[in-house]
Amino acid sequence: MTPPADPNRVIVFDTTLRDGEQSPGCSMHLGEKLEMARALADLGVDVIEAGFPIASPGDFEAVRAIAREVRGPVICGLARCNPADIDRAAEAIKEAERPRIHVFLATSAIHREFKLRMTPAEVVARAVEGVKRARGYVEDVEFSPEDAARTELDFLAEVVEKAVEAGATTLNIPDTVGYAVPSHYAAVIRHLKQHVRGIDRCVLSVHCHNDLGLAVANTLAALQEGARQVECTVNGIGERAGNTALEEVVMALRTRHDFYDLSTGVNTRLLHPVSRKLSHITGMAVQRNKAIVGQNAFAHEAGIHQDGMLKERSTYEIMRPEDVGIARTELVLGKHSGRHALKQRVADLGYHLTDDQLNRLFEEFKKLADKKKEVYDADIEALAENQLQAGAVATWALAGFTSTAGTGSQTSAAVALRHADGSVRRDAAVGNGPIDALFKAIDRVTGVGVKVVDYRVRSVTQDMDALGEAQVEIEHRGRRSRARAVSVDVVEASALAYLEVVNRVAGRQLRDRLKPTDDLLAVPAPSNA
Ligand code: KIV
Ligand code: ZN
Repeated sequence: MTPPADPNRVIVFDTTLRDGEQSPGCSMHLGEKLEMARALADLGVDVIEAGFPIASPGDFEAVRAIAREVRGPVICGLARCNPADIDRAAEAIKEAERPRIHVFLATSAIHREFKLRMTPAEVVARAVEGVKRARGYVEDVEFSPEDAARTELDFLAEVVEKAVEAGATTLNIPDTVGYAVPSHYAAVIRHLKQHVRGIDRCVLSVHCHNDLGLAVANTLAALQEGARQVECTVNGIGERAGNTALEEVVMALRTRHDFYDLSTGVNTRLLHPVSRKLSHITGMAVQRNKAIVGQNAFAHEAGIHQDGMLKERSTYEIMRPEDVGIARTELVLGKHSGRHALKQRVADLGYHLTDDQLNRLFEEFKKLADKKKEVYDADIEALAENQLQAGAVATWALAGFTSTAGTGSQTSAAVALRHADGSVRRDAAVGNGPIDALFKAIDRVTGVGVKVVDYRVRSVTQDMDALGEAQVEIEHRGRRSRARAVSVDVVEASALAYLEVVNRVAGRQLRDRLKPTDDLLAVPAPSNA
């Protein structure tokens, strides 16, 4: 990527789908990654790091699908400095409109000695080979000396200089373990600017982790020294304490333009919708007091503050909620709203649904609007997420259920499931509470036994007749799978979410049918169909 003509334009490199996704609890399946990538493109990020293609076939497929379908931003694939990684990354991104390969190799003494067991000279040689091989595939190559913040400054300067000579076009300086503090990190960037020949031909990039809570501060300090690419993730998700939060760095630059005189291409009005989308997809809630996108970020509780706000907003508000996409009035639609209004609202909330999905969503919306007087953005988001989740061909669909619960009585549930072959199969079970009984009854019908490792319910909005969202995470043969569903009935939402993950396992088992395994989908004979 050629550096932007405007020297004050900061390139936003989003790594939500790579560094963010590799952190516990944030994994996404292909459809979810594509949806996030489209939302990031709409948001106006310059680069999307779509994944680490050699890491798994799923990662490879996701990077390839994003490269094929998402237009606008540069699409980047990560690779270690070895031929197999680089070849795989090149294959995954080859259909991108603007492809980039990002190669990395650790440079700190601690990593050289204990992880790589390589001498400094070997590290330099490997970095050069990696950059050259990547340049054989694409013109846009980023090089990262992993753990740069703990690397001896002179050695760091030597490695990056060789990487520039070998053809790197972006030089990224990662604080891999979140060890840096702002003035230290700024000094590293200054040193490189002063001592690396050819550095001005490259974009200097920063990548900070938040172990000391300083990722955004370090990033801003580096920008003051001339870095012009920031690597960040939505909601700051990422390894351990996370990465630099995209929304925080973007809004710091915008709000303090007077101080930094730097700008980005991000449409800040989409920050809140994108943040909500990510937490819907991953199930990872944003802390209430999180800057920019937390629920309390624009709430004024103290009487003195409220009084000041009523007199003049700027007394206590440095940013306007609408500038980050928080609607002042959220109430949108009711039962008389038409298809067109709904379609527009869904698009405004950042969803890309097909006509079929929109039609199904409209039906769900009408049912909901019949039950609830007021339908909020959060309800529409939940219904749209439901459509995205329900993309795969399902082996089993919920045809009906009953569950009983009460003090002193044993809890039981009965389900009727429709199989893809059209037959309806029924069974019942008792359990510790209605959800346990329901899941057991589903297991009895499907024959797919999974272990539930996480289960949560929450209300989508705050009213008594709110939609309930259930999230279920299961483990099966060492693989985890997560799904969520919404309904006005949380027990039904739970059954739907559980069925979604059971269907994924059933689908995998069907694909593996020819392999001699002991848990092939044993579709039980209809019990009392
Ligand atoms: O934190 C890190 O060092 C990384 C590199 C791969 C850039 O994520
Ligand atoms: Zn990282």
